[in-house]
Amino acid sequence: MAAGTSASNLDPALIFEIDVNSDAFKQRWMDHMTEWSTRPPFYAVWDETVMVMVGRHADAMEVFSDRERFSVELPARVGFERFDKFYGVEVLTQKDGADHDRLRRLSAPAYGPAAMRKFDQEMSRILDEMLDVLPTDGSVFDIVELFGDHLMVRIMLDGMFRLDERQRAVFNQMRAVIPMATTLPPGAEFPQVYVDAFTATRATIHELIAERRASPGDDIISRLVHAREDDDQFTDKELHDAIFTLCATALQSTVSAMSGLLIALWKNPDQLAAVRSDRSLIPSAVEEGLRLHGPALFTFPRFALEDTSVGGTPIHKGMIVRVAPAAANLDPSVYPNPLTFDARRNPQKTLSFGWGSHICIAQRLARMILNRSLERILDRFPTLELADIDFTPTYRGQAGELVPASIIMRIPPARP
Ligand code: HEM
Repeated sequence: MAAGTSASNLDPALIFEIDVNSDAFKQRWMDHMTEWSTRPPFYAVWDETVMVMVGRHADAMEVFSDRERFSVELPARVGFERFDKFYGVEVLTQKDGADHDRLRRLSAPAYGPAAMRKFDQEMSRILDEMLDVLPTDGSVFDIVELFGDHLMVRIMLDGMFRLDERQRAVFNQMRAVIPMATTLPPGAEFPQVYVDAFTATRATIHELIAERRASPGDDIISRLVHAREDDDQFTDKELHDAIFTLCATALQSTVSAMSGLLIALWKNPDQLAAVRSDRSLIPSAVEEGLRLHGPALFTFPRFALEDTSVGGTPIHKGMIVRVAPAAANLDPSVYPNPLTFDARRNPQKTLSFGWGSHICIAQRLARMILNRSLERILDRFPTLELADIDFTPTYRGQAGELVPASIIMRIPPARP
């Protein structure tokens, strides 16, 4: 065994050979997550690595909430390189303890209510411009290509980060190559295209830091550059890593969440009709979309700091523990009839944004983007429909991500 622990001292009844990184696994994610949502933590052996997979809601909360037993910090051991997806950058999601809490406190205001108010004013205008390109003559189009990908560029890279065209291309390329690193065999070199993207991103981030220092704006990057708490502020290295973290955490997840919401809601015409006729259901429908079709099958790995157990399953010190929010969100003991999309459910304690000390720092911002996007789509296109309501989505993305590849829709002309 290269990493984790040897399978030989584990209960064989709890060991499953399962390639969580394979296409086959991803395409059948809903079946797997449904199964995991009621199964105690178990051991998955993938590519010679043993990982503890945690699917039930209570077990997931326990792992997310207990920093004494489970840390996100990467142990410096052979075989763990595959979890260092960011080429040595210290992303917030992979730091723990006082160090994490300090960086989180410094970062938090950049994603706070003042920043949100600012984006909210602009968001509907940008969304309307983006939606202008959708054909309204009844011809079919891929809404992921025409809307989703632009959501990232226009709302986030342009609206929230205020990058110019070249800087946007660099960030976008970094986002595109990050999945490569998750499939690296233990000890393997990073591919050249990854190294090139990383080098360009690092240079661009340093250029952005200098720019925003000289002339601050009200974008997220300026807010990070000028963040202060008492006498404390980010060092240049910390700032670089905080901005890099956005490539890793912010860009794809919001687009995938929007795609998931479109699939989940538009495949349920009665629920869609209910939301169309009562717009006050939008926030609850967004939460239900995040629950039933959120962007994260698994979050970042945790590492056991001691011999322990969760849900009765022994976990040895040093083992890799992977929490599956997509499974916890289907746990029938918390969400009755979990596979039903219920726009009125207003589900609580869903784990799509994680939980505990690493819970998504920008969850309010992400929800605002999803709420506004759904609102504008419903307002603008009362006849928008899936080209084939029975279509089975295909998925791409890095291990643990659920990225719908395309959603073919059409907007038939409204009847007079
Ligand atoms: C619907 C969209 C989003 C989803 C579902 C999402 C989900 C998550 C999850 C699950 C985590 C915790 C990971 C873990 O515990 O291993 C996380 C952390 C984080 N997210 Fe998000 N995210 C979204 C959008 C965003 C956006 C728009 C930003 C920034 C503009 C962002 C920035 C971050 C940061 C910086 C962290 C690290 C927090 C920490 O470790 O303390 N996310 N996100």
